[in-house]
Amino acid sequence: MQALHFPVSRFYLCGVPGDQLLQNLPRAEMQQGYVVVAVCPAYFKNSSMLFFVDTANLDHIREAAELGILDGVTTNPSLMAKEGITGEKEVLKHYREICEIVGKDRDVSAEVISTDFKGMVAEGVKLAALHENIVVKVPMIREGVKAIAHFTEQGIRTNCTLVFSAGQAILAAKAGATYVSPFIGRIDDTAWDGMKLIKDIFEIYGTAGFETAILAASIRSPLHIVQAAKAGADVVTCPLSAILGLFNHPLTDIGLEKFLADYNKANG
Ligand code: E4P
Repeated sequence: MQALHFPVSRFYLCGVPGDQLLQNLPRAEMQQGYVVVAVCPAYFKNSSMLFFVDTANLDHIREAAELGILDGVTTNPSLMAKEGITGEKEVLKHYREICEIVGKDRDVSAEVISTDFKGMVAEGVKLAALHENIVVKVPMIREGVKAIAHFTEQGIRTNCTLVFSAGQAILAAKAGATYVSPFIGRIDDTAWDGMKLIKDIFEIYGTAGFETAILAASIRSPLHIVQAAKAGADVVTCPLSAILGLFNHPLTDIGLEKFLADYNKANG
């Protein structure tokens, strides 16, 4: 048996159903019985799906961080405006505060406002210099893809946002984006299947060997989180309410009540 360093693909990691693995292995290599070795950076860091909270609300970020399961934060200009954060000085201060709350080695996406290459690069460089956690969030437009390719060369991490098609996800990955953000909820809002896009990107990235991590965005509910995990998302970013919704099950509440009642009865 021969060891082969195969292009990066999440299909080749442990815990992947065998049929998916086989479907995605080139036939020739399967027949020759190669051992497949590959590493997806997002898994390498954490070896499980990452949880980001999608908000600029510091209380929500603190609450999520206190749960001990938070890997990062995504923001966008609408979320910043919702918290009343305006003006460059305030915005930069807010991002720094978010980075400090989440702590070391946790990514915080900060979005550029410019829509031209030069403006995006200037903003992105300033944002990236703010804190080591910062990932520059760039919209999926021509100038954005150019900016992502430039940031990739400079070693600045990026999140390509406003992605609504597999073609856009390919462009983001080709430019070397660290994350690609397909907007599930907004696709669902148009009566299309947002989760199908996650599945398509997962398949494409696995087959083509792209390293970009799939960040399922515009998550609206706990069910979206479960479905995104099944579909192969590397990261889910969601409002705190969706994360908290995962806790809910009436049988847990009933069971705990009964355990405590029995304990109290037995212990007087
Ligand atoms: C992604 O990073 C965006 O901030 C976000 O998920 C958009 O979600 P929405 O469609 O609920 O506004």
